Amino acid sequence: MRRAGLSFGVYVLLCAGFLRTQEKLEEVHLRNEVLSQRRQEVASTSTSCCIYDRDPHHIWNRLFRLFYLRTGKNGRQYGGAELDPYVRVETRYLIVGPSHDEAIRLLDHFLQQHAELLIRDPLKRAWMQRDLIAIYNWLADSDTEQKSNRAQLQAKLRETIGRLALTDDEIQALPDNYQEAARSKAFPAIYDSRDPDRGFLPPDLFDPAGSWVCLSEQHGKSVASEHLIFFDGRSVFLVFLDLPGGRTETLAYLEKLRTIPTHWGEDREFPGGIMVPSPEPPQLPLGTRMALVRQAVLMDNSGRLVPTHLTESAQIRVYRSIRPFSDENAFRDPPQRVFELRVDRQVLFSGRSGGFHAVAADEKEFGFFNIYRGPDEFEDENNPEEAGQAIILRQCGGCHSSPGIHSFLSYSRERFRISDDLPPPKLIESTPAREAAVEMEWIRHYATTTDLVHP
Ligand code: HEC
Repeated sequence: MRRAGLSFGVYVLLCAGFLRTQEKLEEVHLRNEVLSQRRQEVASTSTSCCIYDRDPHHIWNRLFRLFYLRTGKNGRQYGGAELDPYVRVETRYLIVGPSHDEAIRLLDHFLQQHAELLIRDPLKRAWMQRDLIAIYNWLADSDTEQKSNRAQLQAKLRETIGRLALTDDEIQALPDNYQEAARSKAFPAIYDSRDPDRGFLPPDLFDPAGSWVCLSEQHGKSVASEHLIFFDGRSVFLVFLDLPGGRTETLAYLEKLRTIPTHWGEDREFPGGIMVPSPEPPQLPLGTRMALVRQAVLMDNSGRLVPTHLTESAQIRVYRSIRPFSDENAFRDPPQRVFELRVDRQVLFSGRSGGFHAVAADEKEFGFFNIYRGPDEFEDENNPEEAGQAIILRQCGGCHSSPGIHSFLSYSRERFRISDDLPPPKLIESTPAREAAVEMEWIRHYATTTDLVHP
C-alpha cells in the first residue's frame, strides 16, 4: 500500500465548506450512530468467528480473526467486515509482542499441517489468498523498527499465499460475482430518487454495447492510478461513465473532453494555486452516473499475478445538481448521491446475491484508503477505538466535493499536479480487459505484490 499521490491538504482547502456541513450532519446523526454502532458490534462478533468454516476453531478462521479483528482497550472486538485489515503504517500489532508470536505460531502450524488442503473450494482459497496478500502488502509498507520480525512474518505469509494458489483454469472458472448479483435481482437496477439511500446495482455495467462506458487513459496510464498505487497491486480498478443520453451521449462527451481543455491554466477559484485544465471543460449533464469497480488480483500456482472477475466492491455516484458538496443546501439536498456495494465474505461463500452487501447510510468502517497514515487507535492511549471508524458514505464528499466534472477525479485529479509538462488527461472508450491489462503492466513492474513472485 503506497501513499495515494493526492494531496489531502489540497482537498481540505477545496472542501472547507464541506466540513461545516459535516458538523450539522454530526448533530442529526449522533443518536442513529450510537444505535448503529451497537448493531455493528453485535454483527461483527457474531459473524466474524466462522467466515471460512462452521467450526470457530478451524485454523482458517483463526488466521482470519487474528489478521482482521482487533481487540480494543475496552475489551471489545472490532472489524472483520471490512475488505481491508484494520492496520496502519505505524501499527505494531502482529509485528511485536504476543500477536506476532501468535501469527508465527499459527502460520507455522498451517504450513506444517498443510492446512491449505483443508478447504478445497476455489472461491474460499482465492479469497483467503487475497486476505493474506493485504497483510503482506501492509508489512512491506510498515515503518515499525522490527525489520526482522516483519521479514519473518512476510516469509511465512509468502509461503502460505503460494500454497493457496489456484491453477489458471481454476482462476478463470471463479464466479463472476457481479453478474451473479445482477442475475439475483437482490438489488434495484436503477437509482430511485424516491428512495435515495437505497443501494442499486446496474445490471448492464459490463455490457460492451450498453450505456456505461468503461474508460482508459489515452496515453496508457492507468485510469484509476491513485487507487491502483495505494492498494499496491492487489486489486485493479475500473472506471465507468454513463451520461443520461446513453452510450452515444457519453462517447460524444468524452470526445469533447479530449479536445476542449488544451492546456493547464490558473484556477479562478484559487488564483495563484494549482493549475487546472483550460479552457474550462464542458460540464456534466444532470443524471450522470459514475462507477469505480475494484477487482481482486491473485497469484496463480505458477507464480504469476493475474486479474480476476472477482469484484470486491463497486462505488457509484449519481449527479443530481452541479453544486459543490460544501454548498449550504447540501445537507438537505446533496448534489451527488453516493453508493457502495461491497463483498461480505459470508454472503459470498453462501452463494447469495454475488456476495454483495449494499452499504447502509449509517454504516461505519475503519477508514483505510484515506487515513492509512493516521494513528492506530488500538495502540494510541489517547484515542478511543471508535475514532478510527467513520460513516462510509459520508467520506465520499471529502474527495469528490467539487462541482460536477471537477469531482470526476479520474479526469480532474490532474488539477492536483504541480507541473504542467503533460497536457490535460484524455479519456477514451475502453474495455475492462484492456484497462486491467494496463494496470497489470504497472503491477508487474512496481507493486509490492510482485515481491511474492520475485522475493
Ligand atoms: C480519499 C479520497 C477519496 C474518497 C474518500 C473517495 N474517493 Fe472516489 N475516487 C478518488 C479518486 C482519487 C478517484 C480517481 C481514480 C483514481 O485515481 O484512483 C476516485 C474515483 C471514484 C469514482 C470513479 C469516477 C471518478 O470520479 O473518477 C467513483 C464512482 C467514486 N470514486 C466513488 C466514490 C464513493 C461512492 C466514495 C465513498 C463511498 C468515494 N469515491 C470516496 C478518491 C476518493
